[in-house]
Amino acid sequence: MIHADAIPFTPVKESRLSQVDMQHLEFGKYISDHMYYAHYDHGKWSDIAIRPFADLSLSPSILGLHYGQTVFEGMKAFRRPDGQITIFRMDKHYQRFLASLDRMCMPPVPEDLFYDGMSRLISIDAAWVPEADGSSLYIRPFMFASEARFGVKVAEEYLFIIFTGPVGPYYAKPLRVKVELDYVRAAKGGTGYAKCGGNYGGSYYPTQKAKEEGFDQVIWTDGRAHEFIEESGTMNLMFVIDGKVVTPPTSDSILDGVTRDSILTIAADLGYDAEVRPLSIEELENALKAGRLQEAFGAGTAAVVAPIAVINVHGHDYELPAWDDNAFMMKAKQKLTRMRMGFEPDVHDWNTIISPM
Ligand code: COI
Repeated sequence: MIHADAIPFTPVKESRLSQVDMQHLEFGKYISDHMYYAHYDHGKWSDIAIRPFADLSLSPSILGLHYGQTVFEGMKAFRRPDGQITIFRMDKHYQRFLASLDRMCMPPVPEDLFYDGMSRLISIDAAWVPEADGSSLYIRPFMFASEARFGVKVAEEYLFIIFTGPVGPYYAKPLRVKVELDYVRAAKGGTGYAKCGGNYGGSYYPTQKAKEEGFDQVIWTDGRAHEFIEESGTMNLMFVIDGKVVTPPTSDSILDGVTRDSILTIAADLGYDAEVRPLSIEELENALKAGRLQEAFGAGTAAVVAPIAVINVHGHDYELPAWDDNAFMMKAKQKLTRMRMGFEPDVHDWNTIISPM
């Protein structure tokens, strides 16, 4: 449709980059100079451009604000020691974005619009990709219903936007998590697998309650009987039980995490047995009691690998054993980083190299 070099580009008058403390990057605080913008109206895309990141002018009646047709992705770009910039697993994120849009009755974003817009945006804002260990440029593609009309209906107009921002680690320390037995994040047949805004808004209330009790996050359980482990807030869950990597299978109530998938691939590369299978709370609690649960961690784009130190089940805090660099989660995180940074060959074809403008 539109080749990356042909995307109209209006540069900022003055970059905001000098206001950013690249050594202390709080997640979500800084936004890069430009954004990619495209308007969809009754089957046609228009106004495709890269322009200064700025407020939008929208009617208070837009359908996305009222009925929740909003979908997003979370991706990352990295700066390698030789200065090259690479985007991680564009294809897998794009496919998940399409699946989320489909579930929310939103039109697909064409492949070239997604890939070319993102590549060009990142090449323009290349200076915003941080260098410090553990930091990256977070990429936020998203789409929402922009049709101004308040009847409940599938919208005919949407905005697709990509903005980016430099980020550091999402969780600063090992997590205390609580197995949630009252509230539900997603039910069978619902939108749990989609990255739609409502899944996040709906999880705030139980997560706030858990935070008041001293936990960082909840572990969601299935919506039918609270019998099986699903995922955690903002990340998938993985465990090491009796030396085997165990994670629940993705389903219509679990997000198909890109980091989860990458770590399962890396587990095989490292020679670990990985079991993708339902994990009941009963099995988890028995393994904790018997000291057979060696590691638990969250895996997500923002979180990367987030070690869990304490799991609360049925009101009891179980402390996990201390870990070192030989723990699976640490080895997997290190290999993932090395593959992204170009220290290891890209055997799975996960990285897209971007040429700076
Ligand atoms: C991500 O890991 O990229 C997410 O989208 C989770 C959260 C930051 C919203």
